[in-house]
Amino acid sequence: MSGISSAYFKSVALALLLVFSWDRQLQHATVMADFPSSTFKRNFYSETCPDAENIVFRVVANCLLTNPELGAGIIRMLFHDCFVNGCDASILLEGTDSELEAIPNQSLKGIRVIEQAKANLEAACPGVVTCADIIALAARDSSFLLGGKYFEIKTGRFDGTNPGVVILPAPTSSVSDTLRLFTDVGLSPDDLVVLLGGHTLGVSQCRFFSSRLYNFSSTGRADPTMDAGYRAVLQRRCPQDGDGSAEQELDRGSVLYLDNSYYQNLLRNQGLLQIDQQLTYDDRTIGLVQDLAHSFATFQEAFADSMTRMSEIYVKGPSHGEVRKVCSSAN
Ligand SMILES: *[C@@H]1O[C@H](CO)[C@@H](O)[C@H](O)[C@H]1NC(C)=O
Ligand SMILES: *[C@@H]1O[C@H](CO)[C@@H](O)[C@H](O)[C@H]1NC(C)=O
Repeated sequence: MSGISSAYFKSVALALLLVFSWDRQLQHATVMADFPSSTFKRNFYSETCPDAENIVFRVVANCLLTNPELGAGIIRMLFHDCFVNGCDASILLEGTDSELEAIPNQSLKGIRVIEQAKANLEAACPGVVTCADIIALAARDSSFLLGGKYFEIKTGRFDGTNPGVVILPAPTSSVSDTLRLFTDVGLSPDDLVVLLGGHTLGVSQCRFFSSRLYNFSSTGRADPTMDAGYRAVLQRRCPQDGDGSAEQELDRGSVLYLDNSYYQNLLRNQGLLQIDQQLTYDDRTIGLVQDLAHSFATFQEAFADSMTRMSEIYVKGPSHGEVRKVCSSAN
């Protein structure tokens, strides 16, 4: 992707992976799915739509050339999709109380990219490629286009027919609560540390961390784990009675490049969200934070591996899913 120079990556990035703007607490949904090893595999479309992965890649690359901040939204979409009901594109279903309703406005922009890819795929091979696979492929391509490693993923995720029940970690969740959500879907503490590295991209809104600046855990004081100089900067940008939707960089100074500076900032106590900074105050996570801060290559490998595992959560086979005609509604 030498054609994409960093000059393109100047506009403000959107918030990513783990920043959520709703606070509903819902029962955890039990997800049952056939695990379709015969249909879920590399190059599932090699005969039915051989150009499928290229078609997705071209759409994502074109969109990121002009709007690189969409990459953060697309990677975040995979996270939202896979953690709710499994990776079945239920995030795209419109309807009351669906996942889509619960997704912050800012991440909705990435949906246009998925819809464009779906339109191009329907033109090339009608009724073949699922929306769930398009999300996973587009997230893989986004991470590559923004500086991550290229990696192969399996395809053959069939689309779900029901909007999911949303239960996701919040920016203020503890490491323990967030770990529980990860282990519930078969991911490890290391996956948590690595996938939070998605916060190397994008922005978050003041309201998701302003309690850290003014009244941490109802103590009436700032979060003592935050670097004082960084706190002063954030207090200027996020005044106590200011606009809660004002956006701040998640990875100070480097929001459009998938690098490991996020972890380096954590070690300087300059993590933006509580969950980010807590990674350096927990025995289960600090070791890997240090490793990733010290090696970009280690981070690239680990991010590709964890993204792959996340993209395989509760995949549905053909007997539990379908190939949607349009991504926004079940057939
Ligand atoms: C999304 O945008 C709509 C319309 O602009 C607004 O009413 C709503 O509050 C926004 N939701 C969030 C979570 O920002
Ligand atoms: C901090 O938050 C608590 C609980 O919301 C509230 O009772 C208290 O007045 C706040 N303190 C300050 C200094 O704002």
